Amino acid sequence: AFEVELARTGETVTVEPGTSILEAVRAVRPDVLYSCEEGFCGTCETKVLAGKPVHQDTILSEKERAAGNTMMICVGGCASRRLVLDL
Ligand code: FES
Repeated sequence: AFEVELARTGETVTVEPGTSILEAVRAVRPDVLYSCEEGFCGTCETKVLAGKPVHQDTILSEKERAAGNTMMICVGGCASRRLVLDL
């Protein structure tokens, strides 16, 4: 499990194994935008302010993956203990 901080409110959610960041965020932000939930539509793209995302989408370029400042939260994970997202 890892933690995700929603920077605009300071709320923190825990993402358990087998759960997506999107699902964890939806619990506190029912209005968060998403569509495919499979990493290809781009609707859930979210800025990463801190932490190391693991990308599992099929949208971002190699450069964007390496930069690590944006991610698709429906499928992505986290290689650090905590991610801070611009939400
Ligand atoms: Fe489509 Fe995340 S909801 S890429």
